[in-house]
Amino acid sequence: MKQLLAIHASGRVQRSVTRQLTQRFIDQWRSVHADGDVILRDVGQAPPPTVSEAWIAGAYSDASERDEAMREAIAVSDQLIDEVFAADVIVIGAPIYNFGMPAQLKAWVDQVVRINRTFEMNFEAENPYVSLVPSKPVVVLVSAGDIELHPGGVLAELNHMEPHLRTALSFIGLTDLHFVRTGNEEFKDERHRASVDAAYAEIADLAARLPAGA
Ligand SMILES: Cc1cc2nc3c(=O)[nH]c(=O)nc-3n(C[C@H](O)[C@H](O)[C@H](O)COP(=O)(O)O)c2cc1C
Repeated sequence: MKQLLAIHASGRVQRSVTRQLTQRFIDQWRSVHADGDVILRDVGQAPPPTVSEAWIAGAYSDASERDEAMREAIAVSDQLIDEVFAADVIVIGAPIYNFGMPAQLKAWVDQVVRINRTFEMNFEAENPYVSLVPSKPVVVLVSAGDIELHPGGVLAELNHMEPHLRTALSFIGLTDLHFVRTGNEEFKDERHRASVDAAYAEIADLAARLPAGA
């Protein structure tokens, strides 16, 4: 049975473009994978905690050395990482907030990028960073207020979400990334509608063929 991990990161529940795109992906994926399992992780409504003294101490120590506070602090991280490992495909609904990812999505990234769980260090190697997550497709459904933030746009260099997500996810092994971009949500104009229509077509294609060979 295939598993889809779906992450909502919008702070909005009503009128959210990324929630609608993500729901469309879920529906279409379910129609192809009738016996598939969908795990919904809504960090928009229930953001993971930010990393703390106990979290960092726990993450950088062996399990046998952890006290109760450390174990408690990294329990959320363990759960979110388990979801990433269990998934065959991941979809992330990702609004652009202030030229980057929403704080709630960054909180999720900070929970899942963890030493000795999703990456490890080999100080002998030329490249000391070793990814520990097996490759799997990740679909990132983006909405921006201004469409020009997307690659090729006149404001593209101000888009820090896409390169940041690409770097952080690739760092742990998630290199098979598919960005689907909508824009001009602030303008609610023809360019916005066209970008959403194009995104729905891309979503239909991706939901039908990911994971490959399924
Ligand atoms: C707090 C906040 C910050 C935003 N910052 C930007 C921004 O820097 N650039 C931009 O183009 N749009 C920005 N927007 C617009 C959102 O990217 C746009 O409304 C998007 O559709 C939000 O995703 P959602 O519809 O899933 O909630 C911002 C919106 C909010 C609420």
